[in-house]
Amino acid sequence: MSQTPDSQYTELLSTAIEARQKAYAPYSKFLVGAALLTKNGTVFTGCNVENTSYGLCICAERTAICKAVSEGHQEFEAIAVAAHPLASPCGACRQFIVEFGKKITVISVDAEDTSKSKQWTSEELIPENFKF
Ligand code: THU
Repeated sequence: MSQTPDSQYTELLSTAIEARQKAYAPYSKFLVGAALLTKNGTVFTGCNVENTSYGLCICAERTAICKAVSEGHQEFEAIAVAAHPLASPCGACRQFIVEFGKKITVISVDAEDTSKSKQWTSEELIPENFKF
């Protein structure tokens, strides 16, 4: 885990912070944005989308990944996640990210104070992840 995100991802962090504005989180009020960078340089955004049936809530990271995959992208370089306070991806999202590669860069940033961030590889976040 590293505390300073690589400078090449500064724009990706800003995109995740912007995507957070679209979050639909009337129950938890916890807004999350994500920005997923594909290996060919395309960026897909995501936000959390909650539901009155709480178990149906979907996280920002999985929204972004589903958008990318459904548009034909499966090779990912990095994903930025913005929340306040800073939050690392949940277990389900960790498994979802590592599905697409062990070396995907994952960066969490505090949406209201970008000096607070953490960076990992997808594998660091979920060692011994499930494999079929
Ligand atoms: N959430 C995310 O969007 N990503 C995570 O990695 C953790 C949690 C969302 C789900 C829910 O809408 C809210 O944050 C509170 O759990």
